Amino acid sequence: MVAPVLVGTFFLLATGAAAVGRTSKGNISRPPVVPKILFSSTEPVTDHNGAEIPPYNTQRYWHTWEFYEPGGPIILTTPGEENADGYEFLLTDQSINGLIAQQQHGATIVLEHRYYGYSNPYIDLSTESLRYHTIQQAIDDLEYFAYNVELAMPGGNNVTPADASWILTGCSYAGALTSFPKVNDYWGYFDIVRQFMPQNCSADVQAVISYIDEVVTSNDAAQISTIKEVFNMDLTHLDDFAYALARSLYYWQDLHGNLSNGYFYSFCDALEVVDGVAAGAEGQGLDHALQVFGSWLVPPVCGSGTPADECLGTYDPTSYVYTDINNAERSWMWIDGAPEGVPTIVSRLITPAYIERQCTYYFPEAFSAPTAPRVDATNAAYGGWFVQADRLFFANGKRDPWRDATVSADGTDFSSTSMQPIAVGDGFHCSDYYAQNAQDPTVAAVQNRGLAAIKEWLSSWTPPTDTCDHKDQGDINGSIHK
Ligand SMILES: *[C@@H]1O[C@H](CO)[C@@H](O)[C@H](O)[C@H]1NC(C)=O
Ligand SMILES: *[C@@H]1O[C@H](CO)[C@@H](O)[C@H](O)[C@H]1NC(C)=O
Ligand SMILES: *[C@@H]1O[C@H](CO)[C@@H](O)[C@H](O)[C@H]1NC(C)=O
Ligand SMILES: *[C@@H]1O[C@H](CO)[C@@H](O)[C@H](O)[C@H]1NC(C)=O
Repeated sequence: MVAPVLVGTFFLLATGAAAVGRTSKGNISRPPVVPKILFSSTEPVTDHNGAEIPPYNTQRYWHTWEFYEPGGPIILTTPGEENADGYEFLLTDQSINGLIAQQQHGATIVLEHRYYGYSNPYIDLSTESLRYHTIQQAIDDLEYFAYNVELAMPGGNNVTPADASWILTGCSYAGALTSFPKVNDYWGYFDIVRQFMPQNCSADVQAVISYIDEVVTSNDAAQISTIKEVFNMDLTHLDDFAYALARSLYYWQDLHGNLSNGYFYSFCDALEVVDGVAAGAEGQGLDHALQVFGSWLVPPVCGSGTPADECLGTYDPTSYVYTDINNAERSWMWIDGAPEGVPTIVSRLITPAYIERQCTYYFPEAFSAPTAPRVDATNAAYGGWFVQADRLFFANGKRDPWRDATVSADGTDFSSTSMQPIAVGDGFHCSDYYAQNAQDPTVAAVQNRGLAAIKEWLSSWTPPTDTCDHKDQGDINGSIHK
């Protein structure tokens, strides 16, 4: 089995799953020293398989050694699928990285992922340019960076993983870069929301969705047109209509401990509270929920005057959604309705095929016809659920909709070991990554377990006897630890 390349030389700390949510400012002592440095190569550049490619490889990173003492670890993270501007706080004690740095006297680095922000190797995001945008190249980038960067701090030219301990952290996709099962047909996402959201709101959303599914599959033109009016969404394609209804529910993953904060609960309050009185677990019932849901969705999403097809439709290949290069959202849509027989808060019209069709618009040169993702191959390459890696810490949240794609999925029974601990709290998506979420004691417990594991692992760390030549990018594919 090919494990992530970092195994053996890095400690890995993986937490949560997909799109990273920004949180508000926590109680931070003072701004860190954040020199902005370009990591770029002036040599002719080869890709990780040894092929020569045009000059590229400017990857931005941010670094602080505020808490560093010689012998301390280097803590590396990437915000993943985002422009890294604005993520400087990941260097600080607002995040788990800063907490580790303070505990262990380490230095922290935020590295922008290639193909995001200003770390693009090419001028555009064409299919041709994106050919190096693969999981393996991203992992190789992290290794290459660690072995080649000269950090602008005292002794910073002597802290590669051959000399110093490195800790790779990440939440969401960035956590997945260390270890993650990939799934298609991921209806578990909304199933977790359904289970953990307020039960009255869940009951009403289920009622609305099952009614809408009934109407849109009925071929009853009059009924269909009425329901479009209720939602003020004159969408041509009914699956687009069904998908638009899920928009309010995606806000769940941005919640953390502070539930009074956010769109999701305002949506539920609107559905459930009438004249100051909230409905019981059974909800307010279909009629009320349908009217409120109908009036709630479109104005904040589309604004007035934008035709619904332009704002919420997915069938126009020339739409900016498919052509704009600054659209990090687009890789994160492998989420669908539950199968028949399982209650659902998202329409069953949303199937893998609905999403796969859109790939042909995003990447017409690569996909002439809808194509299922190579989930099995990815899991085989990176271990999927069965990944084995020493010093890999999984921090998961019960209420994280991505949990069912982690080792803490319902129906799995992976054991937590001292070398591969699994800690689960009541958190949402990436809750454990942010220091302020320690206001939830279960999240604080996960964070403390992570910090204790790192402390223990570092106390017995010795420099590896690794003979690979990591300076040579062409060799990196040969240096993967088996
Ligand atoms: C918040 O910051 C203030 C001022 O630096 C400090 O006195 C206080 O202990 C901090 N509180 C927490 C919970 O860190
Ligand atoms: C929770 O969010 C509300 C609304 O944004 C805010 O007023 C309150 O201070 C927050 N509470 C905590 C503990 O962060
Ligand atoms: C009902 O809805 C209200 C408002 O959103 C919520 O505060 C309450 O917890 C819900 N109650 C139940 C039993 O689901
Ligand atoms: C490394 O990549 C080259 C070029 O793609 C390939 O020929 C070679 O077999 C690879 N080596 C390993 C060990 O995978």
